Amino acid sequence: MTEKAEIPESLIKRFPLRMVHGIPLMEPIAQNWKHVEEFQARPDDLLIATYPKAGTTWMQEIVDLVNNGGDIENAKRAPFHIRVPFLELAFPDSGVEILNKTPSPRIIKTHLPFQLVPKSFWTLNCKTIYVARNAKDNAVSFYFFNKMNGVQPEPGPWDEYLQTFMEEKLSWGSWYDHVRRYWDEKDKHRILYLFYEDIKKNPAREIRKVMKFLEKDLGEEVLEKIVHYTSFQVMKENPMVNGSTVSSLIFNQSISPFMRKGEVGDWKHYFTVAQNEVFDADYQHKMVGTTLTFRTQI
Ligand code: A3P
Repeated sequence: MTEKAEIPESLIKRFPLRMVHGIPLMEPIAQNWKHVEEFQARPDDLLIATYPKAGTTWMQEIVDLVNNGGDIENAKRAPFHIRVPFLELAFPDSGVEILNKTPSPRIIKTHLPFQLVPKSFWTLNCKTIYVARNAKDNAVSFYFFNKMNGVQPEPGPWDEYLQTFMEEKLSWGSWYDHVRRYWDEKDKHRILYLFYEDIKKNPAREIRKVMKFLEKDLGEEVLEKIVHYTSFQVMKENPMVNGSTVSSLIFNQSISPFMRKGEVGDWKHYFTVAQNEVFDADYQHKMVGTTLTFRTQI
């Protein structure tokens, strides 16, 4: 993403969604779709895949630090969106173009559902880290993000927004299909499937899983350093990850901070009792038959 001063205000607008193979995506992504579809992965690419607001930035920071042996200064070399380019990004820059110029080994972010990820990632057997977050917190976090993000569709009132989440019509489509499909694919590909709630509860244990997956044995001291540096409080103050390098026309942090709360169970402050009942019933229906369960019972 371009630095603050470089984006002309006239280009910023809340983009409508367009269907791409049955998934609603922001218009610029849909227009750029051919380039995404034909994207050529490289065997040593690492993909970080998430439904939006599941803890992507957190995992980006963890992985960058693990890859660099826990070198904090090195992690400050550039903002998060430069260090880990966003594959399908099409405004204000093209993620594909950036990635084509990025030297290997690349860390790549995507919110695409499994079936829309460029095929080359799977044929080359690239490693993927997937982070899933419980539906209710994910919905609340996405709601606040869409309020502050000047290019996402207007979320409207919370009640309406929650309905749209349940109807699976938000950007990047269905939360339910997203988390389920990667879960189903995880043993057929090199996918490490992690949970936001687990990382929150025991970051050292979960970061150890990341280290093992990336074949980096860094030792306990470095691990402790990474745990500290990727804690919510430290990341919130870190300009390289807290969104302050993104144009305020895109991230209006006076509406809601990019590093908002970083908690498990914040949904309880927003769901009414009635909304919760409807949501639970609908959830049971949509998640029937899966072995995927979220640790933090919601
Ligand atoms: P909240 O809106 O609930 O605070 P993404 O990076 O995918 O956009 O996800 C953003 C969510 O992850 C936000 O959730 C953000 O605060 C949270 N987050 C980011 N860094 C975190 C960290 N170090 N620890 C816990 N949560 C974090």
